Amino acid sequence: MFPDLTCDDIFRLETKRLWLRWPRACDAPAIKSFASLPETARMTAAIPHPYPPGEAERFIFRARADNANGEALVLAITQKNDARQGAAIGLVSATLSDAGELELGFVFAPCLWGKGYATEAVRALVEALFALTKAGRILANVRAENPASRRVLEKCGFAYVDSGLDLLPARGGLHPCDRFELGRKSWAASRSSRRLPAMVHQAPDEMAAILALMPQTQA
Ligand SMILES: CC(C)(COP(=O)(O)OP(=O)(O)OC[C@H]1O[C@@H](n2cnc3c(N)ncnc32)[C@H](O)[C@@H]1OP(=O)(O)O)[C@@H](O)C(=O)NCCC(=O)NCCS
Repeated sequence: MFPDLTCDDIFRLETKRLWLRWPRACDAPAIKSFASLPETARMTAAIPHPYPPGEAERFIFRARADNANGEALVLAITQKNDARQGAAIGLVSATLSDAGELELGFVFAPCLWGKGYATEAVRALVEALFALTKAGRILANVRAENPASRRVLEKCGFAYVDSGLDLLPARGGLHPCDRFELGRKSWAASRSSRRLPAMVHQAPDEMAAILALMPQTQA
């Protein structure tokens, strides 16, 4: 599902305020600092609580192996202008469901909630997934009691599908969840309705003048 491009640990995505890159061994303390908190873990399907010793290191090892094998795309988020020199503030992931569909996951450090970072990172990952894979849609599940996560998905164009009991392994058993999806057609439609770059808006005569100034391509 994932292309060669994302299977190399130099792969990264850039947004206005963030870098999204493969997790590294040196991210373990930062990841532990937010993943071990009850308020982050309890909303996720996979983060255990209490957070066992060595869990961040194991997570990073698994993420890098899955990324390298093309079975997932798990990225650590860092702020571009960060006094702590690139410390991870969150994680976003796309994994394959049992049915082979892309499923989105994300978690951020509580000290930075409410600043739009999750929305910015999820948008970037969604763009990359539709651009780099042939996936027809991306799925996401949120706990029914998780309005912040639902809001992030809505802001990124996801549509509510239905609700039901879903298995959250790290929470033990089935829990009420809301299911969301973003289809490729909806994604493409929302992209084409966004403001076009200035060059495309130039009047035809202005565009002809610009083209005349450009060096001619050699045959
Ligand atoms: C969900 C999570 C990633 C959001 O991170 P974030 O960086 O704060 O997200 P953003 O700032 O981009 O957007 C959050 C939105 O939720 C809204 N929100 C936050 N708490 C809310 C609440 N209790 N009720 C309704 N909306 C809420 C915010 O107002 C914001 O929406 P707005 O921009 O329209 O005001 C973060 O809370 C988190 O890590 N939670 C724990 C893990 C988790 O839930 N992961 C998702 C599993 S599916």
